[in-house]
Amino acid sequence: MGIVPFFGMIAALSALCAMPHRASLNLEANTLIVLGIETSCDETGIAIYDSERGLLGDALFSQVDIHAEYGGVIPELASRDHIRKTLPLIRQVMDESGLQAEDIDGVAYTAGPGLVGALLVGAAVGRSLGMGWNVPAIGVHHMEGHLLAPMLEPEPPTFPFVALLVSGGHTQLVQVDAIGEYSLLGESLDDAAGEAFDKVGKMLGLPYPGGPHVARLATQGNPDRFDFPRPMVNRPGLDFSFSGLKTYVRNTIAEESDADGKLDEQTRADVARAFEQAVVSTLAIKCGRALEHTGLQTLIIAGGVSANTRLREVLESTVSKVHGRLFYAQPKYCTDNGAMIAYAGCQRLLAGQQDDLQIQARPRWSLESLPPLNTVAKSA
Ligand code: KG4
Ligand code: ZN
Repeated sequence: MGIVPFFGMIAALSALCAMPHRASLNLEANTLIVLGIETSCDETGIAIYDSERGLLGDALFSQVDIHAEYGGVIPELASRDHIRKTLPLIRQVMDESGLQAEDIDGVAYTAGPGLVGALLVGAAVGRSLGMGWNVPAIGVHHMEGHLLAPMLEPEPPTFPFVALLVSGGHTQLVQVDAIGEYSLLGESLDDAAGEAFDKVGKMLGLPYPGGPHVARLATQGNPDRFDFPRPMVNRPGLDFSFSGLKTYVRNTIAEESDADGKLDEQTRADVARAFEQAVVSTLAIKCGRALEHTGLQTLIIAGGVSANTRLREVLESTVSKVHGRLFYAQPKYCTDNGAMIAYAGCQRLLAGQQDDLQIQARPRWSLESLPPLNTVAKSA
């Protein structure tokens, strides 16, 4: 860890903590302004959410350029950059929102799951600001943040609903009865959907992260040229597996490549199209079954892959079959961001939950272990 950025962070943290702040939390008022900090992977996301007025400000710094040359996230580089960016971004969002430390009622930071070093930066900053400003801090589950991101939209879904969480690290189908009342219906047994998009992107020579690039290339592809398998759709249950599909793509690329191992432009696009179609229809088949199994009519999709246009289109027709509705966040709140963390933390703080004085960083953390809103938060 570079010692200079570390000292810089301590100095900046001391300066922020020294700002005039609240004497105590006023839960009686039933409205809260919460600072959210997201640093679980390769994006530093900061936001301020007001339970009455909604989102007051947010900013994001993406580390994509730092990791691009390696074709994937390098954990140590991610942690170091969070050290550089977290506090300046907090200052920026507070200035842009016209808020002082004394306006902030609580701090929410991503406590997991994610890269431990990256999590530790946000956790240390969030917990320290909570102490320095004399307001509660709470460690938020990253996937709960994603799951609640559609609540930031003007027309939010109402509970209960089925959630399809599709990010770079997770593919899960969850029955959501209320905040903190989660039952896992199915999940990926190997690669997450986003991870499969990223690996196929790499095979097609696209930049990291591959998901949006594969989706863009797929729009030029012929949907009838290849028909890739839909993994695990003939088996009962709601689990997923994408590693076989990834191997199928690798083999197709090998078969279609010329003597120099190159694919022509149209074939690249056709492979991207067939892969996207296979992932999307697999997800749609399982979502349809989850709605049938739970008897619910509302489906929400969240996480980076929920930004995929084709997935949204196909799922619209899945929900229409049960006369249901599909909800998702605007694209910038599908991928990692501070707003979802500020929102999720705000709901838990409003319910009277808060952490004790420890810094929480949990690289692995089950969504189902979270407490419902009406019980006092478990300490770690
Ligand atoms: O939720 P997220 O920002 O980070 C994690 O929590 O993992 O998700 C990132 C993932 C990456 O794998 C990225 O390639 C994928 O979401 N992604 C997409 C699209 N936009 C982002 N995948 C398919 N189509 C997209 N439009
Ligand atoms: Zn995420």
